[in-house]
Amino acid sequence: MNKRVTLTIAKIEHETKDIKTFTFYHKLDARPGQFIMLTDFEGGEKPFSISDCTENEFSVTVKKIGEFTTRLFSKREGDLMSFRGAYGSSFFISNTKVLLVGGGYGVPPLYFLAKRLLKAGAEVVVVNGARTEEDLLFDDKFKELNIKYINITEKGDLGKKGTSVSIAKKLLQNQLVPKPQLGNNNHPQAGAWGRENREKFDFLYAAGPEKMMKNLQKFTGDITYEFLLERYMKCAIGICGNCTVDPLGIRLCVEGPVLHKKLVEQLTEFGKYHRDASGKRIGF
Ligand SMILES: Cc1cc2nc3c(=O)[nH]c(=O)nc-3n(C[C@H](O)[C@H](O)[C@H](O)COP(=O)(O)OP(=O)(O)OC[C@H]3O[C@@H](n4cnc5c(N)ncnc54)[C@H](O)[C@@H]3O)c2cc1C
Ligand code: FES
Repeated sequence: MNKRVTLTIAKIEHETKDIKTFTFYHKLDARPGQFIMLTDFEGGEKPFSISDCTENEFSVTVKKIGEFTTRLFSKREGDLMSFRGAYGSSFFISNTKVLLVGGGYGVPPLYFLAKRLLKAGAEVVVVNGARTEEDLLFDDKFKELNIKYINITEKGDLGKKGTSVSIAKKLLQNQLVPKPQLGNNNHPQAGAWGRENREKFDFLYAAGPEKMMKNLQKFTGDITYEFLLERYMKCAIGICGNCTVDPLGIRLCVEGPVLHKKLVEQLTEFGKYHRDASGKRIGF
């Protein structure tokens, strides 16, 4: 697992104007929520969540944000990249009725999760939010799964204005019964949902901007949840201490990045601040 593997980029998909998915042909032993450390040996090694992982390939979905990711965006299929991992904790795979709430580049790891949950027999509802329709990630991929799927944008260009949290709030408060996605009539409950068929979730998963998860937390009530958190990572194997969170001092690269409700609730920095490479606090 700590062994570095160098591979050619097998496939590059343009998801949005500033997000691309990079696929590598390699048998990776990874679970949803885990991440890899990726480098091109030209400066820096950075963590990215696994957005899909099948028998012989895996993918990461990357937002262009700074020096490393900009360089990554200039790569072509066939170029060499090197990675180590997969690292970190993973999401609990439930076989009950579950709700997945995503925003930004937090959505792709939830796609990997949704596939594994379905395999385990869970009934999966996904809420996917973005600023605009153009920014919506993995929309087509989710529509192909046998799930209940709700997409929503802040701009309202899909018909209604909202965020993934505003939709999740209604679902969690039992106000909204999602209709089956058009074209997904194979779902066992397709056409059978009505007022008598209220949603009642056993487990909640979220990934995305920390502010989004902080907002979502207000509506979680008694439901058990796991959130995927990010902190500045250097070693990714629990040695440097750069990714620890206050006040527990747990290392997000080892005990996280997926944290259970019981831990999230104890974090005084959750939704408030994170630290940069030098350990300096940065507000969200
Ligand atoms: C567990 C985990 C999973 C992640 N998954 C994804 C993903 O699936 N897709 C994606 O696009 N991004 C993901 N990130 C964030 C990604 O690592 C940063 O966007 C990337 O490192 C930015 O590097 P840069 O040189 O382009 O930008 P920089 O200009 O160096 O940094 C821009 C911002 O990115 C963050 N960042 C930079 N370096 C690191 C680092 N070593 N560790 C953590 N955050 C850093 C900081 O918030 C920083 O302010 C993840 C981070 C973590 C910790
Ligand atoms: S990144 Fe070094 S301890 Fe987590």
